[in-house]
Amino acid sequence: MKVTTLILGAGAAGLMAAAHAGRGTLLIDHARAPGEKIRISGGGRCNFTNMHCDFPNFLGGNPHFHKSALSRYTQWDFLDLVQRHNIPWHEKTLGQLFCDRSAKDIVAMLLAETEAVGAQLWLQTSLKDLRKTDTGFAAVIEKDGKTTQVTADNLVVATGGKSIPKMGATGLAYDIARQFDMAVTETRPGLVPLTFAEDRFTPLAGVALPVRVHHGATHFDEAMLFTHRGLSGPAILQISSYWRESDSIEVDLLPATPLAQILRDKRKVEGRRALTTELGHHLPTRLVEHLGQTMDFKGNLGDLSDSRIDALANALNRWVLIPGGSEGYRTAEVTLGGVDTDGLSSTTMMSKTVPGLYFIGEAVDVTGWLGGYNFQWAWSSGFAAGTAI
Ligand code: FDA
Repeated sequence: MKVTTLILGAGAAGLMAAAHAGRGTLLIDHARAPGEKIRISGGGRCNFTNMHCDFPNFLGGNPHFHKSALSRYTQWDFLDLVQRHNIPWHEKTLGQLFCDRSAKDIVAMLLAETEAVGAQLWLQTSLKDLRKTDTGFAAVIEKDGKTTQVTADNLVVATGGKSIPKMGATGLAYDIARQFDMAVTETRPGLVPLTFAEDRFTPLAGVALPVRVHHGATHFDEAMLFTHRGLSGPAILQISSYWRESDSIEVDLLPATPLAQILRDKRKVEGRRALTTELGHHLPTRLVEHLGQTMDFKGNLGDLSDSRIDALANALNRWVLIPGGSEGYRTAEVTLGGVDTDGLSSTTMMSKTVPGLYFIGEAVDVTGWLGGYNFQWAWSSGFAAGTAI
């Protein structure tokens, strides 16, 4: 079988690339259905892009690589596509756009786009062998126990990262990059809950509150959730992409509350009020009880000196924690690192050393924040490769 373009992986990036690469494209995936991560994303409603999508919302070895693709296919371009397909959507918070009905609308839209250009989709199909030829690539693929030899002028690798192996994630993209002597940067789980030794927060499981969480110069203002194993919630998932083993994070438990001033004012008029009662107005009661074990919340407001008030406020505004680890690829929304962008053209996503070989989406060392940014990277990088072919 001869095709112009063979695309490996019918996820977000692969579907987008197929929709633009057009006729003569064969898109294969080992899963039973295309776009499975789209289907389960955003609690089944797919946070498909973000209105505030901008260059600083992405991490990677080269902080400039993603700019070209994101500029040429923006969040507004994807939103325009969604609207042309009459998919109802809404902004939830922080510019995050979701489907009103179901994430399946996005999968159906991408399938309609690929069908419209005449691209073929083979599911439950795996790659058995791959080599370079003088004019392109020769692949052996297997479907229903039957092997097919495919020759292609272009090969687009869109098999994603390592996150959620249960959903069929594999390291195929990294293996292919290495096969063609292209570098792969260190990979690690991103947008992932952080864990703590000895079930430290088990008694607090289920408690959630708005926080500001810092790692070095980076911070996020979002909700934090205590779990049986540690910390989760958007603020923690965001900072996890910056956190490394043995690093500390700093949590401001009262980012919008001038606690020291409040305690001073209340001390004048309600000196007999217990400190724990007052703190319970600003923080969840279970958290106050837990923190009281180490931060000494005994006594009444009238007993507090100015320096004690400052020390208390400082402790709650700068709660330093050292996570023991993360929940790993089992629950990580994305994989940080991947195919080294030094080896790719930022305008086409084609390898600089192997003509006709493209890497797109999560397989590449570009990772977005939580909030629709990772799909936007999949759309933009898929568009870059698809239109370059
Ligand atoms: P993706 O993983 O989507 O697709 C890769 C495809 O390749 C899959 O179909 C897979 O079956 C196939 N494949 C893998 N190995 C193969 C092999 N060896 N042979 C054949 N096929 C193979 N992002 C966001 O912006 N908004 C959101 O709401 C969410 N929500 C979310 C929830 C959850 C639970 C997860 C795990 C992730 C998210 N994400 C997200 C992240 C987002 O899903 C992710 O960034 C994109 O799906 C990446 O798109 P890709 O096409 O690169 O990989």
